[in-house]
Amino acid sequence: MGRKVILDCDPGHDDAFAMMLAVQHLEVLGITTIGGNCTLENVTKNALKVLEVLGRTDIPVFAGHSCPMTVPLVTAPQFHGETGLDGPVLPEPAVKAQEKHAVDFIVETVMDTDDVTLIATGPLTNIAAAINREPRIVERVTELSIMGGSVTYGNWTPTAEFNIFVDPEAAYRVFNSGLHIKMSGLNLTRQCCLTGEHVKKFREIGTKAANLAADLTDFFIGATVKSAELTGANMHDACAVAWLIDPSLVKSAQMHIDIELKGDLTRGMTVCDYRHLRGVEPEIDLHREPQMAFRGEKPNAEAGLELDFPGFMELLYRTLTNYK
Ligand code: RIB
Ligand code: CA
Repeated sequence: MGRKVILDCDPGHDDAFAMMLAVQHLEVLGITTIGGNCTLENVTKNALKVLEVLGRTDIPVFAGHSCPMTVPLVTAPQFHGETGLDGPVLPEPAVKAQEKHAVDFIVETVMDTDDVTLIATGPLTNIAAAINREPRIVERVTELSIMGGSVTYGNWTPTAEFNIFVDPEAAYRVFNSGLHIKMSGLNLTRQCCLTGEHVKKFREIGTKAANLAADLTDFFIGATVKSAELTGANMHDACAVAWLIDPSLVKSAQMHIDIELKGDLTRGMTVCDYRHLRGVEPEIDLHREPQMAFRGEKPNAEAGLELDFPGFMELLYRTLTNYK
């Protein structure tokens, strides 16, 4: 069994793919949900529905925060539909979510269990709240793998990616907490673009999980093409899990990343300091060139830069085939 993880998500079509990969290849101690793609009630119901299709109702689901720390919730019905998981027709979940709050589950589990990795594929509100509740989780967590942000462009604004944009204050807390972060940003996840040929392959695999993948992708392609004029469905969240399952799938670079909170045009931007990648800075005379004094902060994150998409698809096909 792979590493012990808690998956915090807002299913969400691509969150469902993250779940399919995590449940089979990692030891999922629990799934926590966060308002994001859709309301907390709907994303929680969607997580329960996906676990039922996968035959894993043994994995507990804990509902978390319904809205960001300081601003109203923004959802994404144009991409995920009114239910948050439009497309597949799934029965009402037979199993209910746990009574315990997601943040309590995250804090208690990390304090009681060694070597837990956190994965977050929605806004970072639950993760930030857990750090605020118990700062000691920062040194106990192995690392945090997120889908969020971008080393380049945004998708919700020209500079901000949706998960960070929904709750920038939470993202700021997480990126400045001392946690080691693997960031699967849009610059990476846009390389994970599924089209009709992949849907056809899912249908050929024919398992319940593969048919769910086909129905999800079909809807997501239609919504993405219509709303974002892209050529296929980007399975953003699955990258944050695949990177943990097979590190060879992602080429990355360590860098300092911080979150812009104030900019009219840049609020929610992940500001990534690439400068140290230029190589060793020439010695400079600070008396002559004081403006060159700013060296930037030490790296606090690993930003995904290149995805081995064929390798990712091979992992996904193998995973969907293995679900009975
Ligand atoms: O910007 C993409 C992210 O926003 C993904 O996590 C998707 O599920 C949505 O939450
Ligand atoms: Ca998501």
